[in-house]
Amino acid sequence: MIRVLLHFLVLLVLHQVPDAKTAPVLANETDYQALLSFKGHITLDPFNALSSWNDSVHFCKWNGVTCGGKSNIEHLRVTAVELRSLKLVGPLSPQIGSLTFLQAMILSDNGFTGAIPQEIAKLSRLQILDLSNNSLGGQLPRNLTNCAKLWTISLRGNNLEGRIPDSLGTFWNLTRLGLSDNRLTGRIPPSLSNLSALTHLFLSGNHLEGSVPPELGQLFNLAYLQLSSNNLSGPMPTPLYNISSIVMFSVVVNNLSGYLPLTCS
Ligand SMILES: *[C@@H]1O[C@H](CO)[C@@H](O)[C@H](O)[C@H]1NC(C)=O
Ligand SMILES: *[C@@H]1O[C@H](CO)[C@@H](O)[C@H](O)[C@H]1NC(C)=O
Ligand SMILES: *[C@@H]1O[C@H](CO)[C@@H](O)[C@H](O)[C@H]1NC(C)=O
Ligand SMILES: *[C@@H]1O[C@H](CO)[C@@H](O)[C@H](O)[C@H]1NC(C)=O
Ligand SMILES: *[C@@H]1O[C@H](CO)[C@@H](O)[C@H](O)[C@H]1NC(C)=O
Ligand SMILES: *[C@@H]1O[C@H](CO)[C@@H](O)[C@H](O)[C@H]1NC(C)=O
Ligand SMILES: *[C@@H]1O[C@H](CO)[C@@H](O)[C@H](O)[C@H]1NC(C)=O
Ligand SMILES: *[C@@H]1O[C@H](CO)[C@@H](O)[C@H](O)[C@H]1NC(C)=O
Ligand SMILES: *[C@@H]1O[C@H](CO)[C@@H](O)[C@H](O)[C@H]1NC(C)=O
Repeated sequence: MIRVLLHFLVLLVLHQVPDAKTAPVLANETDYQALLSFKGHITLDPFNALSSWNDSVHFCKWNGVTCGGKSNIEHLRVTAVELRSLKLVGPLSPQIGSLTFLQAMILSDNGFTGAIPQEIAKLSRLQILDLSNNSLGGQLPRNLTNCAKLWTISLRGNNLEGRIPDSLGTFWNLTRLGLSDNRLTGRIPPSLSNLSALTHLFLSGNHLEGSVPPELGQLFNLAYLQLSSNNLSGPMPTPLYNISSIVMFSVVVNNLSGYLPLTCS
């Protein structure tokens, strides 16, 4: 009898905790599990940045997590995860691909390792992907065609290898593409010239080779073009001189020839 009563009490108490882990089919539960998996992959958290990621509060109140959607707490979904400069170490959980309402993932200046999970391709609402200044390796995600809303991709300062995929040219709204200071090889894909909204193109400090595609001259909104410290060769394509919006242009430490427009370094 006492045992039954105790059991009942425990149930009551559990019921009062808003985050009781019931109803696994619910969308909010998906986000909750994805965040737990993200935390579970972290091997070092010297500032205890994720100590608030526990069941005493709803996950929408966890440090660095922002939710949006219906005002009803049961329908809130994670829209941003922002954890900068916290010395977090560990791989990125592939389950971040389940945060399907995510608009911003900002994890810059930490010690994230491993590859960028391909599951990022499922984040069709993603607008900002900033994983800069970490220790990520492997190749750039191959197939981000679903992430059509991206307007900032910043992956500078990692150990990314391989080529820049042609498919990066499909992000019509991309304004910033930062891939500097990695180990990227191969050519600059001419398809980047389709990124008509692009204002910042940062490719410095890689091992890119071949010529600079003349098609980049179609990027009429380009303000910052950084190609320095690669192994690019051949003449500077003259169509680049026609981009009147350019304010900063850096091409040093390559094997390029020809004249340069306006202020260069
Ligand atoms: C759980 O998170 C709260 C803040 O949301 C914090 O005060 C508490 O110390 C955390 N508990 C543990 C065990 O870290
Ligand atoms: C998700 O919402 C349901 C109610 O719709 C609630 O019972 C459950 O505790 C919520 N889960 C989390 C992890 O917030
Ligand atoms: C990344 O590191 C570079 C060089 O140390 C620094 O200039 C830049 O501000 C850093 N960016 C971020 C987002 O931490
Ligand atoms: C890329 O992803 C889209 C949508 O998920 C899919 O239809 C397409 O087949 C994929 N392409 C490749 C080359 O994997
Ligand atoms: C691109 O931006 C425009 C203007 O902000 C917007 O109307 C459009 O929906 C965006 N396209 C995508 C695929 O996000
Ligand atoms: C730009 O996009 C169009 C349409 O998708 C495609 O036909 C063309 O080949 C692309 N340009 C480059 C240089 O890739
Ligand atoms: C630079 O590119 C040339 C060919 O254009 C190649 O012979 C050379 O090995 C490359 N150097 C480096 C450091 O990659
Ligand atoms: C620089 O380019 C020229 C021709 O474009 C080539 O002859 C020379 O070998 C290249 N130098 C290096 C160091 O790659
Ligand atoms: C620059 O633009 C003008 C007018 O649009 C055009 O006539 C000229 O051929 C272009 N020059 C280059 C090098 O593309």
